[in-house]
Amino acid sequence: MPTFHSLTPADLKPSEWHPFLVGAVAPRPVAFVSTVDAKGRVNLSPYSFFNAFSSNPPILVFSPANRVRDNTQKHTLQNVREVPEVVINICDFAMVEQMSLASTEYEKGVNEFTKAGLTELASELVQPPRVAEAPAAFECVVEQVIELGHNNGAGNLVICRVVRAHFRTDILLPNATGIDPFKLDAVARLGGDWYCRASGPSLFEVPKPNRHIGIGIDQLPEYIRNSDVLTGNELGRLANIELDAMPTAEQVEDFRTEPLVAYTLNKYRSDTPELEKQLLQLGRQYLAEGKLVEAWKGLLLIGPSRT
Ligand SMILES: Cc1cc2nc3c(=O)[nH]c(=O)nc-3n(C[C@H](O)[C@H](O)[C@H](O)COP(=O)(O)O)c2cc1C
Repeated sequence: MPTFHSLTPADLKPSEWHPFLVGAVAPRPVAFVSTVDAKGRVNLSPYSFFNAFSSNPPILVFSPANRVRDNTQKHTLQNVREVPEVVINICDFAMVEQMSLASTEYEKGVNEFTKAGLTELASELVQPPRVAEAPAAFECVVEQVIELGHNNGAGNLVICRVVRAHFRTDILLPNATGIDPFKLDAVARLGGDWYCRASGPSLFEVPKPNRHIGIGIDQLPEYIRNSDVLTGNELGRLANIELDAMPTAEQVEDFRTEPLVAYTLNKYRSDTPELEKQLLQLGRQYLAEGKLVEAWKGLLLIGPSRT
């Protein structure tokens, strides 16, 4: 068992607790929020206490905290109370430094579009402008503000309903059916000054289990479940197979003639423990190539001697 450093937030100063919270609840997407005050003065600030919470109705929530320094409220929150409309712009890698610059605590009324060198684009349905450079922008009306406390650092949930959204055409999937994750190039916030970039080799797919019923890890043969070779992720992928999709005994037998399998069976025919290890490794290899059924066939070849 690993060891754990366990904490009770109430026992710590907020400044001691905060790095653990934001360090572990990470990475968080960044809402780059534009607002206007009652005089129409524009504000633009980033918030990583942010996410989408409902698709229908389309609800996004971000949370400006009361300033830790003096328990005052951020300009974004003040503006939302004056004009309950926001644009939530999505921050990509190309603008991450400008977004960070916009988080500077400028005086109220200072327009961070100007400070950060970003371009205002008029919104269609709300008063705050959107960021022309952002790959996606959500025009929202603010439905509710929920104060989570009154202390320094207490969050205020700004519950926003999307009324119009804009997606740069170069980030779209073919036929505009959604967003291409390789093209979005989104950034996210971790603890301290750390960010990450969702692009290139850091992107991977995990097939959704919601359209079918996977068998579950408890149903894996014991020699697979308890092997020293397969990782938790690999067991998870194997267990995501539907019962109907499992290869039949005949298909498993036929698999013996696959060149790589035949070679392995022949090479280790007189060393059963090593053969089992090699078949487990072969299963991993098929999994890594996204070939779930082949992985199962290879692993079930171990079966007859074990079950
Ligand atoms: C990436 C990033 C994420 C941030 N997330 C939050 C947050 O979730 N809540 C918060 O209160 N401040 C957050 N901040 C700090 C605010 O952006 C900062 O206090 C800003 O000056 C607030 O501007 P305003 O007073 O004009 O609204 C974040 C800063 C950065 C750079």
